[in-house]
Amino acid sequence: MSAPVALNRENGMQVEGSVAFVTGGNRGFGLAMAEELRARKASKVYVGVRDPEAFDHPGITAVDLDVTSPTSVAAAARQCDDVTLLVNNAGTGSAHPKGTLDPDLISSAERVFDVNVYGVIRTTQALAPVILDNGGGAIVNVVSDEAWYALPVLAPYSMSKAAVWNFTNALRTDLRPRGVDVLSLHVGFMDTDLSRDLDVPKADPGEVAATTLDRLEQGAEEVLADEKSRRVKRTLSTDDGYYLHPDG
Ligand SMILES: NC(=O)c1ccc[n+]([C@@H]2O[C@H](COP(=O)([O-])OP(=O)(O)OC[C@H]3O[C@@H](n4cnc5c(N)ncnc54)[C@H](OP(=O)(O)O)[C@@H]3O)[C@@H](O)[C@H]2O)c1
Repeated sequence: MSAPVALNRENGMQVEGSVAFVTGGNRGFGLAMAEELRARKASKVYVGVRDPEAFDHPGITAVDLDVTSPTSVAAAARQCDDVTLLVNNAGTGSAHPKGTLDPDLISSAERVFDVNVYGVIRTTQALAPVILDNGGGAIVNVVSDEAWYALPVLAPYSMSKAAVWNFTNALRTDLRPRGVDVLSLHVGFMDTDLSRDLDVPKADPGEVAATTLDRLEQGAEEVLADEKSRRVKRTLSTDDGYYLHPDG
């Protein structure tokens, strides 16, 4: 059990003194988030990773976690019974140069959903009770601006982000009255392995992590971390919605 952080809030949850758990925290945005949490004096930072032996970052504790395995998720939740802040970050994608008529689309979507949607639900269902037992806290779901538009080449990924955005909205409504803030992070491309092959402008993961934690501490329920995600959301209700012509 940790200190009841929810009772000490001024606006949103304060990171200092929290006990954080970041799924997929061994590289990319998850690692940037774990480092930012350390820098802001979280009292403990766990990263849930598939290969804990390979992880060696001072001040960050690696925990065995595969978000597609209920057994693994349950074991991590038992081990980390002091968590007050969960960051559901682990994610994957698939490329479909043949577009939406690719015969592999369904099997690929099943693999992507198992991580990006069901992985988030599994981890949340295991760790939200821990956060509640510890007096409340927060859950940050790493979504994407692709919750609000889709590219044929990335269709299963976009579908998964729309689904996890929707789950996040249900989760917020469910847990907010019980002292758990739920926040969705939307951002365009970030400079990580996931977007390595894409020649597009990319945000710095460390800056996105800092913006996210600023917004969490301000009590926000959604982070639009870059101009593209703000534009995509802003035009959802306009006649020239970005989602209607994302190819320009
Ligand atoms: N990069 C972007 O442009 C961008 C934009 C918007 C949102 N996002 C989102 O940001 C999040 C992080 O992505 P990233 O860009 O940092 O990608 P990344 O560099 O490819 O990292 C993905 C992370 O997820 C982990 N992971 C994948 N499957 C897992 C599983 N079954 N169990 C546990 N961990 C698993 C990976 O672990 P391993 O090292 O073991 O593979 C890795 O740590 C994702 O949710 C992604 O959708 C990314």
